[in-house]
Amino acid sequence: MSKAAEPGSASGSADWPIPGASVGHSLDPIIIACQNGPLLVRGSVELRTAEGEVIPQLRATIALCRCGVSSIKPFCDGTHKLINFQT
Ligand code: FES
Repeated sequence: MSKAAEPGSASGSADWPIPGASVGHSLDPIIIACQNGPLLVRGSVELRTAEGEVIPQLRATIALCRCGVSSIKPFCDGTHKLINFQT
């Protein structure tokens, strides 16, 4: 069984393409669609719930789930690897 990544982070994901890895503190946000994985969001963004409440951005890079099975949505918890999510 694969080990799940730290919630909302990109750690533990050596197979994810992470171009521009040094961009983390840029004010201009970038979004990277990882092959078979989450959307990595780097830079200053305002993330909100469906009800409009601001979700604090605690990291320079956050990983948003796009496979739909994360237990900590909207963040990725690494479960996409366990279900062999394909993009
Ligand atoms: S994309 Fe990682 S748990 Fe959904």
